[in-house]
Amino acid sequence: MENLRLFLIIPPGLEDLAHREILEKMPEVKASVIKGGIELEADLDWMVRAHLLLKIPVRILLRISESKVRDFPKLHQKIVKFPWKDFLSHPEPEWEITCRKSRLMHTGRIEETIKKALTEALVKQPLSQDWKKKNYSPQTFYIRFDDDVMTMSLDLSGEPLYKRGLQVIKGEAPLRENFAAALLYELFDGITEEKSLTDPMCGSGTFLLEAKTFHLPLHERKFSFEEAPFFKGKLVRKPGPTKKLPAGKLTGFDLNEELLSKISIEGVDLFSADAMISRTPGQFLICNPPYGERIKMPGKKGHFLKNALQKFLSMDKPERMGWLIPSDMDDLNPGVSDYQLKSKRRFRNGGLAVTFQIWERL
Ligand SMILES: C[S@@+](CC[C@H](N)C(=O)[O-])C[C@H]1O[C@@H](n2cnc3c(N)ncnc32)[C@H](O)[C@@H]1O
Repeated sequence: MENLRLFLIIPPGLEDLAHREILEKMPEVKASVIKGGIELEADLDWMVRAHLLLKIPVRILLRISESKVRDFPKLHQKIVKFPWKDFLSHPEPEWEITCRKSRLMHTGRIEETIKKALTEALVKQPLSQDWKKKNYSPQTFYIRFDDDVMTMSLDLSGEPLYKRGLQVIKGEAPLRENFAAALLYELFDGITEEKSLTDPMCGSGTFLLEAKTFHLPLHERKFSFEEAPFFKGKLVRKPGPTKKLPAGKLTGFDLNEELLSKISIEGVDLFSADAMISRTPGQFLICNPPYGERIKMPGKKGHFLKNALQKFLSMDKPERMGWLIPSDMDDLNPGVSDYQLKSKRRFRNGGLAVTFQIWERL
């Protein structure tokens, strides 16, 4: 099979980190970064390894056709003639259609036309019956009309890649695994020596688990490409580990004891003396405090966050600390002189504008 044109979907605001992850873990490709994704050409082996090794992308799409389509008869004809037998594994795929600045703008009618044309196409190119025998899941095709150019892509991943396939107990408001991986990657940027890492409000422990597994391949889940005809007869081989994040001892605390007893971490209030004793100076700290939306917090949101920041920087004194807070709280001043704000990164977390701040001890 010739080179594949791939598009990696990345949460907007994290593209540079995802690009760096590719350059570090699997640099054999030339990738271009665009808003919300990364485009590149790679062979089948790279595509398989990318699914297992990259921790920041949401999913990976395969570009399968690109052409000018300005009217419905042309769309019908394109779909009827497309070589489905190479790509389609289930006769009733899902369609994700978007249109911008094109003559064809009615997504409902576009989907209707495509479905009708596909039924016709499958009479001429009958589909293998594997989907029935092996109980395959429907694939998802992404159809984009932009300036009258129709781009058709096939989702290769299936379930989003932040579903790692590990059975983890989730607390309230857990952080998405790919966000946690990206933020950890940024926190440890430029660090070569091992640092202990503490999450004082760890909830279900997403940061700690991602720190522990950043270099390990995902192998306890399935990917959609495994059922595609172009992959038939091939196996997913587990690659070796990549470079570890230099996170040494991992420690988590949380107020919610009920949740923690399930992941064997002690329940501790971040403001209590116990929390202090367990943390050694010089370590890295990362957390995702409650925002007062889904998880209630005592007093006003600004007060809680300011007190927490003051407590971390004046008492725990980590060497570096990263925390994810709502962007409207982004100008909190802890009034602590021996720290500087190293960086701020903005993105959206479940619809909310958030900032990841990194503070560094001078
Ligand atoms: C947004 S959640 C963190 C979610 C976590 N990152 C995850 O992925 O599961 C915030 C956590 O802070 C904890 N929390 C709130 N106030 C606390 C306090 N004073 N001390 C310690 N933990 C606290 C809550 O119990 C909750 O688990």
